[in-house]
Amino acid sequence: MTELDTIVITSHGDHVAVVTLNRPEKANALNTRMARDLIAWFEAATLDPGPLRCVVLTGAGQKAFCAGGDLAERKDMTDAAWAAQHAVFERMARALLGCPLPLIAAVNGAAFGGGCEIAAACDFIYAADHVRFAQSEVTLGIMPGAGGTQNLPRAMGQRRALELILTGRPFSAEEAMRWGLVNAVFPVDRLLDEALTTAERIAANAPIAARQAKQSVVRGMQMSLADGLAFEIEAYNRMVPTEDRREGVNAFNEKRKPAFHGR
Ligand code: ACO
Repeated sequence: MTELDTIVITSHGDHVAVVTLNRPEKANALNTRMARDLIAWFEAATLDPGPLRCVVLTGAGQKAFCAGGDLAERKDMTDAAWAAQHAVFERMARALLGCPLPLIAAVNGAAFGGGCEIAAACDFIYAADHVRFAQSEVTLGIMPGAGGTQNLPRAMGQRRALELILTGRPFSAEEAMRWGLVNAVFPVDRLLDEALTTAERIAANAPIAARQAKQSVVRGMQMSLADGLAFEIEAYNRMVPTEDRREGVNAFNEKRKPAFHGR
């Protein structure tokens, strides 16, 4: 089993895991080790989710969700070392984006640079009301490289995303919600509970149906409508022979709550 230094995993019941970015003394900045830890955990969860049905991603403390790439680690990096590290960051972003399980970001503090990209790589975001986001790379001579130029415009539209990416200016949780990046804003002391309530609600549903629906939305949105509709039916047909499909319909007719087992 891989030793995880920079993230903490906690279980909430049998079906929900909370992944906490855990370098609070460094504003949970993303160093190479944290990226490797995220890859290790998310790839393991993808290959064998076991009873897991939903994941919440958050940061330790209230100051920061993630302050982006660790600029102390990056100081004096050669171009080759930078590129080698970035290859790890790219795989980290793909591990999040490729996660078949529903993935909720609970953004508890600043989400800057790569931190904003990590949040945007999740299926949806809940944020604490004091949070500031920024796609700040260009202010540092860098550009977003972990999906920011793709996921932000897809969430909030090209023109708003360009304004934020080109200025690098911070924006509030309230603005992020108004623009479609954030689904809901809560006082910080309620944030995790709200995210967990939603995660538990997702986890109470039929897990294969939920995963297939996620794939259909996420992949289908990158296709033409005709291809997306065809892909939806491919995803749908994987759900039809499940025990959970029978259980859901039987439970309705027997006026009881369904018990889904992911089969
Ligand atoms: N890399 C390395 N260390 C960092 C980073 C970072 N990106 N961000 C913060 N830290 C460190 C600080 O240096 C400080 O460490 P120190 O106490 O040893 O000096 C510690 O984390 C706490 O940071 P503060 O700035 O004191 O905390 P504060 O709550 O005032 O501000 C904030 C938090 C807003 C996140 C601020 O630290 C910040 O603006 N950080 C830079 C964010 C940024 O632009 N990131 C983009 C990086 S580029 C990229 O992602 C590709």
